[in-house]
Amino acid sequence: MDTKMWTMPEQPAVTDEAIEEAARLLQSGEVVAFPTETVYGLGADATKEAAVQRIFDAKGRPSDNPLIVHVADRAQVKGLVSEIPPVAERLMDAFWPGPLTLIMKSNGTAADNVTAGLSSIGIRMPDHPVAASLIKASRLPLAAPSANRSGRPSPTLAGHVRQDLDGRIAGIIDGGATGVGVESTVVDCTTEVPIILRPGGITKEDLERILSEVIVDPALANETEKPKSPGMKYTHYAPEAPLWLVDGEDDFFLSCLEKEKGKGLRVGVIASRELAQKLDHSRVIACGSRTDVKQIAVHLYQALREFKEADVDVILCETFPETGVGAAVMNRLTKASTKKLSQN
Ligand code: TXA
Ligand code: MG
Repeated sequence: MDTKMWTMPEQPAVTDEAIEEAARLLQSGEVVAFPTETVYGLGADATKEAAVQRIFDAKGRPSDNPLIVHVADRAQVKGLVSEIPPVAERLMDAFWPGPLTLIMKSNGTAADNVTAGLSSIGIRMPDHPVAASLIKASRLPLAAPSANRSGRPSPTLAGHVRQDLDGRIAGIIDGGATGVGVESTVVDCTTEVPIILRPGGITKEDLERILSEVIVDPALANETEKPKSPGMKYTHYAPEAPLWLVDGEDDFFLSCLEKEKGKGLRVGVIASRELAQKLDHSRVIACGSRTDVKQIAVHLYQALREFKEADVDVILCETFPETGVGAAVMNRLTKASTKKLSQN
């Protein structure tokens, strides 16, 4: 199939035609990629099984991994759930539109393959003008996972979507670079105490300002436990070359780099600006200052896509403090990595 590409000018308000055309494709059961404030999503009519199936086919996604449904207003939420728990109401008031997905009880309106047979459904209201206009124009709740081939880093630019899905989907709306850079936080609101199933753009610290209690799914820290969010069990975000995390002081990183170079390996490095400045090495991607982990999040997936198998044998990556959005950054890096080199 020919993948159509619409490029949005700076002001999305003047692009009604592209939005209308993409919305019509969605209404006819096609899939279209669109920007959100976190990463690009691959959208389809959440109420139509055949449309949703096209998402799974295009991505090569396992069918037991449920999708997040994207809405533009609270009325759409009511149409999808059997009840809105008070906790969810408070979180919507505080963080929507924004990078927070809430798991509630489904009322069965969404197609069965959206929820992968679960009785719950994940819903979020994205904080991006193009996403909001597209949902409104289509008048549909849009099921949308990240718009990458399954297992690859999520796309933060329309070009990444094209790399992965060209020829496999009906269209891509190019709205420029996404903002947050990592996906939404997923919070289960069906339990007595809400549970963070996936760390993301809204931090645990943010949630704690609104909720008296919130816990993190223990499986996130312990590989032997089964995660409550089906998607968290899969290998994810993998770059083309093996990625090793280096946990220690800058001098330790330097010694690891020299050691691998000494073996004749071509080594790629993903690091903070501070560490990058200390390295006398050609294949380094600096993601931002280590004092501002939000910047690291913004550039992380782009960095993971940058090194190609043909150019490097291994990628060494710095580790970051797990506070704030650092929790999401380290969750994704841990999943992307095959090995950890620790100083202690
Ligand atoms: O920021 C985001 O969330 C992006 C943008 C496009 O909105 N979307 C995204 O979707 O990251 P995806 O499919 O890549 O990740 C969805 C995650 C998976 O880990 C999935 O298992 C979990 O949400 N999830 C969805 N519905 C669920 C449910 N009913 N119960 C538990 N986990 C659920
Ligand atoms: Mg994804």
